[in-house]
Amino acid sequence: MALNDFSIPRSVIWKDESISLLNQQNIPHVTEYLDLTTVEEVWDAIQTLKVRGAPAIGITAAFGLALAALQDSSETIEEFKLTIKKKRDYLASSRPTAVNLFWALDRLVACIADVKSINEGKTRIVQEAIQIQIEDEKVCRLIGEHALSVFNDGDRIMTICNAGSIATAKYGTALAPFYLAKEQNKELKVFACETRPVLQGSRLTTWELMQAGVDVTLITDNMAAHTIKSKNISAIIVGADRIAANGDTANKIGTFNLALLANAFNIPFYVAAPLSTFDPSIANGEQIPIEERNPKEVTELNGVQIAPEGVKVFNPAFDVTPNNLIAGIITEKGIISDNYQEEITQLFNR
Ligand code: MRU
Repeated sequence: MALNDFSIPRSVIWKDESISLLNQQNIPHVTEYLDLTTVEEVWDAIQTLKVRGAPAIGITAAFGLALAALQDSSETIEEFKLTIKKKRDYLASSRPTAVNLFWALDRLVACIADVKSINEGKTRIVQEAIQIQIEDEKVCRLIGEHALSVFNDGDRIMTICNAGSIATAKYGTALAPFYLAKEQNKELKVFACETRPVLQGSRLTTWELMQAGVDVTLITDNMAAHTIKSKNISAIIVGADRIAANGDTANKIGTFNLALLANAFNIPFYVAAPLSTFDPSIANGEQIPIEERNPKEVTELNGVQIAPEGVKVFNPAFDVTPNNLIAGIITEKGIISDNYQEEITQLFNR
């Protein structure tokens, strides 16, 4: 059975003079598409998690820079390039951890390096942004095919956060194998951790998988160990926000806990991510900047205060899983699993 476009939601749509963006803040209660027309609105959408997930952030930022380019009224090509560079830096300041943001923006800046006219510059930036989204869809499908090869029909698999269709151009990374399994009439059962504090697991992963008819069961994060044991979980698969040159991986807070549990239960812990999520310029996970977000994400639930007024809060949005806990990193070019340092270098030279 081929899944049609209606059963796999999309988060970002380029409309030539605006961006239509699925507002992930209010899912599952409200499904609304926002019309973004300025670079400031795009910055805000990324910062406030209206769009989130590493590849989707990169795609949205690229379209934001495309809007800025189209709206620019520079008189010389030098002035145009300088403006694009400034808007690139502005958009890059929206969130610090997912490297796809910087990767996509830098790709757009690079694509106008040799242009001689402003019109050509505008056309190239728009085309490159569209191309980034097209490529991401293909890449996610390939990741899904590779990931599906490590699972067996009937497997029960745990995940955290949302590394699904709405976190990418389509299909997702960690969730891609579940869509492809559905297409091939294979039954994979997903156990989704709710993912405190922002609840990407309970609000988004369940929402998108249920629409595609994928068997998904929601648990709270502190049920993971008991669930792995009592529900016979055979593997854990997660997405990534940034992978260092040695394979250390930053992903949503709570991922490291799951990697430790996988190790304790002797089940494989997989990371699924495109090459655009690797950052070979940094040696290891220690150097990955970890975003700390508003304490209200922890002290409030749906705008209702649940902790004592004035309590001290630590709210890191991501953690780093060391490479030795990762059974395999599943990319569009295949699965790497042995010497990450060497294999990551090879991935970029293939
Ligand atoms: O804070 P978020 O929701 O942007 O965090 C998202 C994640 O941690 C995802 O797992 C990661 O970006 C991969 S999305 C394919």
